[in-house]
Amino acid sequence: MSIQSDNIQKLVERRAKARLGGGEKRIEAQHAKGKKTARERLELLLDPGSFEEFDMFMQHRCTNFGMEASHPDGDGVVTGCGTIEGRLVYVFAQDFTVSGGSLSKTMSEKICKVQELALQNGAPCIGLNDSGGARIQEGIDALAGYGEIFERNILSSGVVPQISCIMGPCAGGAVYSPALTDFTLMVKNTSYMFLTGPAVVKSVTGEEVSQEELGGASVHASKSGVAHFAAENEEEAIDTLKTLLSYLPQNNLETAPLKETSDPVNRMEDALNSIVPDNPNKAYDMYKVIGSIVDEGAFFEVHKEFAKNIIVGFARFNGRSVGIVGNQPAVLAGVLDINASRKAARFVRFCDAFNIPLVTLVDVPGFLPGTQQEYGAIITNGAKLLYAYGEATVPKVTVTLRKGYGGAHIVMSCKQLRGDINYAWPSAEIAVMGAKGAVGILKNITEEEYKELFSNPYQAAQKGYIDDVIEPRNTRFRVIRALEQLAGKRQELPAKKHDNLPL
Ligand code: HXC
Repeated sequence: MSIQSDNIQKLVERRAKARLGGGEKRIEAQHAKGKKTARERLELLLDPGSFEEFDMFMQHRCTNFGMEASHPDGDGVVTGCGTIEGRLVYVFAQDFTVSGGSLSKTMSEKICKVQELALQNGAPCIGLNDSGGARIQEGIDALAGYGEIFERNILSSGVVPQISCIMGPCAGGAVYSPALTDFTLMVKNTSYMFLTGPAVVKSVTGEEVSQEELGGASVHASKSGVAHFAAENEEEAIDTLKTLLSYLPQNNLETAPLKETSDPVNRMEDALNSIVPDNPNKAYDMYKVIGSIVDEGAFFEVHKEFAKNIIVGFARFNGRSVGIVGNQPAVLAGVLDINASRKAARFVRFCDAFNIPLVTLVDVPGFLPGTQQEYGAIITNGAKLLYAYGEATVPKVTVTLRKGYGGAHIVMSCKQLRGDINYAWPSAEIAVMGAKGAVGILKNITEEEYKELFSNPYQAAQKGYIDDVIEPRNTRFRVIRALEQLAGKRQELPAKKHDNLPL
């Protein structure tokens, strides 16, 4: 054999070994837990043959506690770029088979490299997390590594989409990188996120709780809102991630790709003319409205299980990607509370950062009253949503279907918050409050008199606070026409270092 072919053989062998990460035994253990390896996950995620791996031969430099005895190539994370549906993405996938995917300084350098390339080249950065946290043997070096990653998360925020998919443990300060990214997906039963695990919780508070109850996918998707999506398994998580990306632009200087549709622009939906019940206290389902106006009825919901009184997610109108925000009259009458405000505010800000127009469907009786809400700072949290809509410069099309009462009417993308096109259905009631409440306070008027004056959209229309009263069945067409009109919208904010949104 020539020296050169011998060299090539060594390279092939070294690569093959690196691809095995922590070795066959640990791969088997990973599979036994119902988890895939980092490379198997990347294979599912990326277009076949598109993966370009970086730093396959990087090794840790730790000499503490016997670490010098072993230097696996790649050191617990697989990084690189590839394409999804032909579009460039940067990725890192932590490899639990190498030191439990724990974060070494070397691993952080590999992750930072893809973060920087994503930022420089204007492409999304995707992390597949499966890690025991800071590599204990490396001490402060590992912590510094996290700091480096966080800083790049922050610099990338609002420039390229950042998505975290949690596919194993994620504990301690490590949870803050996903928290800094735009979307977090989790896998039920095999992933968890918490600052301190069950053992520490028990020793500090005496509370006994399992990992799943403390920080499993279902908990974070429904109670804390930390996770935007909870998938049944890893395949579903990766499919969800791909669908999410299809609605997003590559970066903040681009718009999302158009998706051709055969759904007619002027499709009438007669059922919408009778969807709002005669009794204003009766509920109806906002999902039905969304499903009947968007292209092919396809709605990709974000935060489905969290704060269900407001609905947020992506859809398309005549092929154009939009963010939809809708009050849900079928849950808590569609009232705005702390969680609904937080949820919608974050979504609105994401859409604004990435040039995704907003379509807002309003049926809101107001803010939820009570000590629980006031003590939890509904004032500050409600202000987040108000702020988000008020600062957003993307096209904003709003339709008030029924109630638009009080402060909640103003918050939900009203004209004064620079709503561009604001429509109302004939069933709209845009007023300071509902008739019952008003009569209780004013006393010298009857409910009928109040309803006659305010329980309709014409007061607002007369004053130009809404632009038109439209037939419900024609909503799809009117929204599309509005979005087309606004496609070239340009609006600037005053120069500032950054805003001071009420956190
Ligand atoms: C070094 C680690 C490690 C870590 C796991 N391993 N976590 N090595 N540093 N943090 C190693 C194990 O020693 C083991 O090596 C292998 O990975 C697999 O781990 P197991 O414990 O056998 O696996 P499992 O039973 O599935 O348990 C996984 C686990 C557990 C729940 C993640 O390993 C664990 O609790 N790890 C520590 C978690 C933690 O407290 N991390 C620090 C969080 S604080 P061998 O060679 O035996 O196979 C933090 C601060 C970040 O991260 C701060 C940012 C600012």
